[in-house]
Amino acid sequence: MQILTTAAEVRRELDKRSATVGFVPTMGALHAGHISLVERARAECDTVVVSIFVNPTQFNDPDDLIRYPRTPEADCALLAEAGTDIVFMPSVEEIYPAPDTRQFAFGALERVMEGEHRPGHFNGVGQVVSRLLEIVAPDRAYFGEKDYQQLAIIRELVRQLALPLEIVGCPIRRDADGLALSSRNVRLNAEQRAAAPAIYRTLVQAGEKASEMDVEQLEQWVAEQIDAVAELKTEYIAVADAATLQPVASWDAPGDKRIFAAVWAGDVRLIDNIAL
Ligand code: PAJ
Repeated sequence: MQILTTAAEVRRELDKRSATVGFVPTMGALHAGHISLVERARAECDTVVVSIFVNPTQFNDPDDLIRYPRTPEADCALLAEAGTDIVFMPSVEEIYPAPDTRQFAFGALERVMEGEHRPGHFNGVGQVVSRLLEIVAPDRAYFGEKDYQQLAIIRELVRQLALPLEIVGCPIRRDADGLALSSRNVRLNAEQRAAAPAIYRTLVQAGEKASEMDVEQLEQWVAEQIDAVAELKTEYIAVADAATLQPVASWDAPGDKRIFAAVWAGDVRLIDNIAL
């Protein structure tokens, strides 16, 4: 496994190879969710590239950026074990030689949920992912449904820029108690960690209760269940169309539906979603 820090080195190395390149962008502090993406890429591509870059432009909360966990050595050990060929660990200057002033327009997709509650977040994701895709130029790039709205934004980015690659969405990996794996979980204290599985548990119950109440009542019911757990505070609960991510007014609306949650456990923000 090669560990490279500059775009020029990555290009030089990949230009030597003619085979299919699979790419998994990450911000590090890797867990089994990330590794499931790497394993999928390993199974489907000849060369597997993983980037580790904590992208400052997507953090709307400066404290979140400072507190974001960084474990480069453990990450590289996990990536080597999963059969990664190239790890790209650039500096901020390597990705942004000058401040990135590009403004993306993702339309209605960015006006709901994470886009609404984290202003500028998806613009930063657009900046870094477009830059990484330009450097690595993969045939396939792998993203998790854990960040379901991000996956939709990236599909839209690739469409707008007409990039010649396939975006592969991968299922959410969870701990045994149902908590979606996240780099931020290490920041939960023992009480918060014990409370956090209530998020997934309640989303699953919501799926079972969907026939008993209307959409808005269900969203309220979920928020009440989660807020009744000490340590947890709901930021939003939203039932949305699985393709457009727009709010769903009634169960009769056409199309697949998902339920999305953003919940605070102390100062740690957790997100999750499931199909309904
Ligand atoms: P990060 O949070 O490190 O996640 C990297 C990738 O791993 C994303 O595609 C994310 O959806 C996926 N992932 C995280 N937890 C997962 C889980 N429990 N199951 C399955 N997949 C999971 O998302 C980002 O980084 C950044 O925004 C990035 C795309 C790298 C741009 O900076």
